[in-house]
Amino acid sequence: MTFESDIKNIFENGTWYHSVKYKDIKSKGTFDYTDLVYKLNFPDMKNKSILDVGCSDGFFSKFFLEELNADEVTGLDYNEYDGSVSFEVLKSNENDYAKKYKDQNDFEKLKDSYLNLSLENSNKFNFLKKVFELNMQYKSGSIYDLSEVHSHDITFCGSLLEHLRDPVTAIEQLYFTTNEFCIIDISNSLKRKYNFFNKPLIKYTGAGGNFFHHSKEAISLMMEAVGFKKVASLKSYKIKIEKYDYKIPHDILIGYK
Ligand SMILES: C[S@@+](CC[C@H](N)C(=O)[O-])C[C@H]1O[C@@H](n2cnc3c(N)ncnc32)[C@H](O)[C@@H]1O
Repeated sequence: MTFESDIKNIFENGTWYHSVKYKDIKSKGTFDYTDLVYKLNFPDMKNKSILDVGCSDGFFSKFFLEELNADEVTGLDYNEYDGSVSFEVLKSNENDYAKKYKDQNDFEKLKDSYLNLSLENSNKFNFLKKVFELNMQYKSGSIYDLSEVHSHDITFCGSLLEHLRDPVTAIEQLYFTTNEFCIIDISNSLKRKYNFFNKPLIKYTGAGGNFFHHSKEAISLMMEAVGFKKVASLKSYKIKIEKYDYKIPHDILIGYK
């Protein structure tokens, strides 16, 4: 196989979280943001450094660099790309998640193509970096401890908070690594904002890997509590899970240092 056919093989037959376009191909992601991303009201990022926490395949990192003029992106993720579970889960759920994650790792299936491209695992962030020659660096780590990560002009955290036991610590860590502003995209955001006592709502999902659903008011309060100022809403939207005819509500917030 040629280099080009290896690239196409991974786009066409790989397991993707996001749909990503390459020439006449679009990878079959769980979510297709290819058109929607332009409508999310992200600000221009000209000459800025970005930290994309929970970057997954780097779809948003690539967008920030190519479309919003960012200077460089550091993508950080908990995923070790060795087939192990890349979310914190309750012990009681570990086995179920372990199976699910093993099935998602396409490295064995596409090994020849990855190796031909000098990629040692199925990390799609590094794959996109190579294919599109992007100024982005992958870092393995957890949002709970960003002490080893230097601060960036802009921090971004998309669709991660609902998977965390402790979103407050996570948001505080984002605060410490932000120079100018932080953008948080909340997945499965709650429509109902307040409880009976007029306090912002959070709902425990009862599961051990997708812990809470948050209202944007609750995340906004957490952002303000750790020190962010002028927290504002950028966008409310819904996105379809490609496999099912079901749309997930999201809210994007921005908070300034
Ligand atoms: C649902 S995906 C969201 C991907 C992308 N940010 C987006 O907005 O579409 C969440 C990502 O966060 C990563 N992740 C899970 N727990 C994490 C943690 N504690 N620290 C950093 N990344 C984590 C997962 O491996 C996964 O790639």
